[in-house]
Amino acid sequence: MPRPPPPAWHLLGFSLFLASVCVSLESAAQGNSAADALNVLLIIVDDLRPSLGCYGDKLVRSPNIDQLASHSILFQNAFAQQAVCAPSRVSFLTGRRPDTTRLYDFNSYWRVHAGNFSTIPQHFKENGYMTMSVGKVFHPGISSNHSDDSPYSWSFAPYHPSSEKYENTKTCRGEDGELHANLLCPVDMADVPEGTLPDKQSTEEAIRLLEKMKTSTSPFFLAVGYHKPHIPFRYPKAIEIALPFLPLPPSLPPSLLSFLFSPFPSPPLPSPPLSYFLFHLQRKIRQSYFASVSYLDTQVGRLLSALDDLHLVNNTIIAFTSDHGWALGEHGEWAKYSNFDVTTRVPLMFYVPGRTASLPGAGEKLFPYRSPFDPTSELMDSGRHTEDLVELVSLFPTLAGLAGLQVPPRCPIPSFHVELCREGQKLLKYFQLHDSEEDPYFHGNPRDLIAYSQYPRPADSPQWNSDKPNLKDIKIMGYSIRTIDYRYTVWVGFNPGEFLANFSDIHAGELYFVDSDPLQDHNVYNDSQHGELPQSLKP
Ligand SMILES: *[C@@H]1O[C@H](CO)[C@@H](O)[C@H](O)[C@H]1NC(C)=O
Ligand SMILES: *[C@@H]1O[C@H](CO)[C@@H](O)[C@H](O)[C@H]1NC(C)=O
Ligand SMILES: *[C@@H]1O[C@H](CO)[C@@H](O)[C@H](O)[C@H]1NC(C)=O
Ligand SMILES: *[C@@H]1O[C@H](CO)[C@@H](O)[C@H](O)[C@H]1NC(C)=O
Ligand SMILES: *[C@@H]1O[C@H](CO)[C@@H](O)[C@H](O)[C@H]1NC(C)=O
Repeated sequence: MPRPPPPAWHLLGFSLFLASVCVSLESAAQGNSAADALNVLLIIVDDLRPSLGCYGDKLVRSPNIDQLASHSILFQNAFAQQAVCAPSRVSFLTGRRPDTTRLYDFNSYWRVHAGNFSTIPQHFKENGYMTMSVGKVFHPGISSNHSDDSPYSWSFAPYHPSSEKYENTKTCRGEDGELHANLLCPVDMADVPEGTLPDKQSTEEAIRLLEKMKTSTSPFFLAVGYHKPHIPFRYPKAIEIALPFLPLPPSLPPSLLSFLFSPFPSPPLPSPPLSYFLFHLQRKIRQSYFASVSYLDTQVGRLLSALDDLHLVNNTIIAFTSDHGWALGEHGEWAKYSNFDVTTRVPLMFYVPGRTASLPGAGEKLFPYRSPFDPTSELMDSGRHTEDLVELVSLFPTLAGLAGLQVPPRCPIPSFHVELCREGQKLLKYFQLHDSEEDPYFHGNPRDLIAYSQYPRPADSPQWNSDKPNLKDIKIMGYSIRTIDYRYTVWVGFNPGEFLANFSDIHAGELYFVDSDPLQDHNVYNDSQHGELPQSLKP
């Protein structure tokens, strides 16, 4: 089966895949017997860009996630491989890029469509862990065989909150006193079915499982997938009140707003002061996104505080990330579905007991619950962080290495027939862990580090299915690389039958410099030698 040329690195004239000898990794964590094995708590958030206090955001209130960051190593520049749920989740959970999972849409199960690739939880399960899924970990539907990849990934049936099914029902009380199904939806808990929300239920179930694990003889791998801040922005009313009124990003053509409202009826647009209305509405959307982040933060706070109360923080690794970001008006977009930083950049942090923070003393808590409106949170230690570029596809080898399991060897090309291998890097050096297998491009200049992302399109100009084309409709693939200095994207012809990209068939290009144009508003691709990257940029 022909394989698409790997993304733009061929254009750059160098090869990432230097021949590698797979030396077995000395166990990263000490020992691997059941008694001293480290547990893993993996928190996956839906549509969360790094709009968090610990990423320098001054408006968003996220004291519990900030507190986790203060005891973790935080990756400032972590990127997802495709900015849409199912492809991103299947990519990082299998440790393969979308060109290997061949999932760019929502419509296939990699085990039958691409290869029988192992997943992170499956690897832990096969190494004696109790593996458990709560909430949205795999994307539901065909992409995880309607079973969250059971039975391969999980020790028992994944948990889904019962209130999930009311996600789009009428729960927000409008000024008319009636309940509506709005995009922006602060709720009175008395108005919501079952008196609860999905993420609250997921937290409760996760805590219940942690309590059970207290007496378990095997270590656990618990993945908790939170739904917010995915739309609709539905969160308890109490959280909304104290939020400030938020400024807008500078470049904002309001015309693109209309598409937002198709699935979520909202008040009819008044005609006279239309621009004022849109202006106000855009601020409300941003405010509601940030309120949803604070609501998410309260759930993370409750979960981590319970982990602490159960005395599990001294032997549990905590990883926190999101499937991709979300544009809040940048480039006139209110969604994911692109190669820009705002949609590909994700929060990523790891707490490793005794390594990223000292173990709590007797009676001491590392993760006491904090209210989003607690003023003392601002004094929190920022913890350790790195600006090095990393990819979400590196989560698999990194978690395996941190827990002391075998790190999957690097994938050959092609690797469709190999069940267990990795396309990402093991980020163990950031934890001062000995790593006997040299990652060739990893020890040099941080300027050489690259994060790859991609996004498919059905046509050169926007049309009805541009955001989420089905595989058969994909005509163009945007391959994008991000370095510490720039983002470079080429949109090339793509044959969905053969999964083949044609790098001689360039439809468009984008080039943005990080320092001079952080929001990526000024495409200088055409200025750069007829679309070739200037020599000076080549590593
Ligand atoms: C795929 O992998 C799973 C887990 O290792 C295994 O049980 C199954 O038999 C494999 N399927 C095929 C078709 O090889
Ligand atoms: C997907 O699920 C169906 C129905 O449960 C099952 O028969 C099938 O074997 C599963 N596919 C794989 C590859 O396990
Ligand atoms: C963790 O803390 C508990 C309770 O304080 C203690 O019993 C246990 O030995 C500690 N485990 C490690 C690995 O330090
Ligand atoms: C790739 O694109 C070039 C330029 O459009 C074209 O000449 C060539 O036939 C294409 N190759 C394939 C395999 O489609
Ligand atoms: C770059 O040049 C192409 C071909 O002339 C043109 O279609 C495109 O709009 C230009 N892009 C920018 C950002 O100026």
